[in-house]
Amino acid sequence: MIHGHVTAWVLALILFIVAIFLLKGGKEKGAKIVRMILRVLYLLIIATGVGLLFMLSNIDLLYILKAVVGLWVIGLFEMILSKIAQNRKTSVLWIQFVIAFLLVLYLGFDKLPMSIFNV
Ligand code: HEM
Repeated sequence: MIHGHVTAWVLALILFIVAIFLLKGGKEKGAKIVRMILRVLYLLIIATGVGLLFMLSNIDLLYILKAVVGLWVIGLFEMILSKIAQNRKTSVLWIQFVIAFLLVLYLGFDKLPMSIFNV
């Protein structure tokens, strides 16, 4: 489950970057397809994340925080892409993105016990 979770968000991150380049390069058709695949990946990230939560016997606050920040990152993927598509400013969203992404990595890899490196 955790491997599926990490694979899904790593792929999503790669496709997010690809989508940005396609949008900036005016390749709208390509960007549309990549954004559709991205939306499927969001569902996979959420499904595997919820699956991981179900494996726990007691969910403490850090897990809830991890899930909320994870959803925030997904929201930011979508918001940044739609603002770029509309040629609107994205700087505030990028600041949030850096904070939320670092926080989710810190919580997932450093603070919470499950790990891809020992299962
Ligand atoms: C783009 C969004 C997300 C990113 C980048 C992300 C990142 C991570 C990372 C880095 C880990 C730790 C992997 C490891 O220790 O080997 C992890 C674990 C986990 N994630 Fe996510 N995640 C995201 C979304 C979500 C969502 C939406 C949920 C819940 C609905 C969720 C729930 C969990 C849970 C329960 C764990 C196990 C925590 C542990 O004990 O280590 N994640 N995630």
